[in-house]
Amino acid sequence: MAKKRILTGDRPTGKLHLGHYVGSLQNRVKLQRDYDTFIIIADVQALTTHFEHPGNLKNDIFQITLDYLGAGIDPNISTIFIQSLVPALHELSMYLGLIVPVNVLRHNPTIKVEAAQHGFKDMNYGFLGYPVSQTSDICAFKAHLVPVGEDQIPHIELSRRIVRRFNSLYKPVLVEPEALIGKVPRLTGLDGKAKMSKSLDNAIFLADSEKEVQQKVRNAVTDPARIRATDPGHPDICCVFEYHKIFSEDELPVIREECEGGKIGCVACKNKLSSALNTMLEPIRSKRAQLETRPDIIWDILHDGTAKAAAVAQQTVEDVREAMCINYFQQ
Ligand code: TRP
Repeated sequence: MAKKRILTGDRPTGKLHLGHYVGSLQNRVKLQRDYDTFIIIADVQALTTHFEHPGNLKNDIFQITLDYLGAGIDPNISTIFIQSLVPALHELSMYLGLIVPVNVLRHNPTIKVEAAQHGFKDMNYGFLGYPVSQTSDICAFKAHLVPVGEDQIPHIELSRRIVRRFNSLYKPVLVEPEALIGKVPRLTGLDGKAKMSKSLDNAIFLADSEKEVQQKVRNAVTDPARIRATDPGHPDICCVFEYHKIFSEDELPVIREECEGGKIGCVACKNKLSSALNTMLEPIRSKRAQLETRPDIIWDILHDGTAKAAAVAQQTVEDVREAMCINYFQQ
């Protein structure tokens, strides 16, 4: 039997960070052999909030592709493609939009958070409707599984709802997708903020140098009650310990005991964290740097991936047109 499909992706709005890595990128790398994997670089979706700055997109697409390949996405088995260049996606969005009530979009929690973040009072049609466009990204590939971060759950819920509605109204040609959340659904910021994010200016990027990682970890917020290294620490309220839980799992009991017993200071504890992070990031960083010198290879991968994706999506649109009785010239 043919493999099941994965469709997932990101907006190209800058380099990927650790939150992306543990939230979904690791899952994609792990699953790419078991699933027929398609990864969308959602440039149109990026434009729903960044329509005033289209000039950065080309470089952002290049950078995100380096992040994917650096992290271990293998372009020989996974298909990486660019959203705007797949016409069938835009056609499908229009059809799916016919059956989505505006109020459902207005109540989407992720839309609300993002609208507030960007200060949108009067939301543009394209922004409000991007979860419909995202549904066509998924449906065009008849994907079963969507590895994403926690903030995407409302969108996948909407996709499931649209698919059920479409299939019962017309013909069951679409597949109801499921979200797959990574090991860490939401990585908190080292500054104590609710999440790591570029816009909150607290991100450790996959491309950061060893020194940058050390510097960022050095600035992390720890237990405020701890003044001297010999004071007993409270790991359960410490951001650095949160990170050790994820990135230094094996050493965790020792770190807890040393912190609580005032046997390790915050500086040494942070150094342990930056070396764990640097050990993990080093292979990603060096592969990325090596590929960065070969833009021709990157653009070839994107060109071929986009052509392959466009053919698959076109086939689905034909099924959809048939289901909707608008395939006028076919028998
Ligand atoms: N909304 C996703 C993000 O902000 C990007 C995205 C676009 C996506 N289309 C998708 C994710 C389809 C999963 C499936 O990063």
